[in-house]
Amino acid sequence: MSLQTDYRERVRARPRHPDTWVFFDGEFARYHDVHIGVMTHALHYGTGCFEGIRAYWNAEREQLFLLQAPAHYQRLHRSARILRMDLPYSVDELVELTVELLRRNEYRVDTYVRPLLFKSVEQIGVHLHGLADSFLIYTAPMGNYVDVENGIRCMVSTWRRVPDVSLPARAKITGAYVNSAFAKSEALENGFDEAIVLTQEGHVSEGSAENLFLLRDGVFVTPPVSDDILEGVTRNLVIGLIRDELKMPLVERSIDRTELYTCDELFLCGTGAQVSPVVEVDRRPIGDGTVGEFTQELQGLYFSAVRGDNPKYEHWTIPVY
Ligand SMILES: Cc1ncc(COP(=O)(O)O)c(C=O)c1O
Repeated sequence: MSLQTDYRERVRARPRHPDTWVFFDGEFARYHDVHIGVMTHALHYGTGCFEGIRAYWNAEREQLFLLQAPAHYQRLHRSARILRMDLPYSVDELVELTVELLRRNEYRVDTYVRPLLFKSVEQIGVHLHGLADSFLIYTAPMGNYVDVENGIRCMVSTWRRVPDVSLPARAKITGAYVNSAFAKSEALENGFDEAIVLTQEGHVSEGSAENLFLLRDGVFVTPPVSDDILEGVTRNLVIGLIRDELKMPLVERSIDRTELYTCDELFLCGTGAQVSPVVEVDRRPIGDGTVGEFTQELQGLYFSAVRGDNPKYEHWTIPVY
């Protein structure tokens, strides 16, 4: 088979996107009608920032609940500032556009929303300032990202988290996800479900795409925002649930690697991973090696709130229909 035929075969084998509506540069358009040039800056240099937002379908109420959209768009604005980009919509406008897009696509299943702001200028040369940006929102159906029921097995990655002085982790920068991809592939190819990455100094930072919490002697501990984490939206929600529902103490402080081996409970959380119990790290069991009691309680609280089943947390979501 020639190189060219081989390539054509691979293109043919790519998943076909249903002709969903997307929002691109100020307009709603069909997926296949949007074209991005081969010299697009962000494609070559990773100069973009994005968000990942979930919308949960509640079959009983026939309603799609968009989770924490304002918080995600506030973070996108912060990422844009760090990257010297211009996001031409307010948080409220972005939320409105997202609701409108979900309505157009008529989803009646759990859905993922992917807003992306990227340097769309088609030129060679690496710098940030004075370059044209594009903005898009893409949506797709999405179920569970990891095994949220039985717990996952993690390894401490040999890759380190990108430090704020090199590639700020608090901005959700497309190019920085190569760091996550290194860690995730290493974990999967070694038979684990997920990676936990350390900072340059050797403190626990986070998972490849999740924040981390552990429970030790009745106190929840999570790394501070200055330990090169993405300042997670789910992290904030979970902190609130620990405080208001479990009524247990929580501290934000640096965590040593060996605390992972000795803690009583451990979980990762994020938009994709939701609340994911960890039952093993580096082949060592966490607690008795099963899903922790308090983690399970948090997970239950989280799932009922995000699906719009807990009136106390109605303000977490926006009904789409
Ligand atoms: C590196 C990283 N950390 C943490 C998170 C969790 O953030 P959030 O809860 O806002 O989804 C994500 C989510 O995508 C992530 O990519």
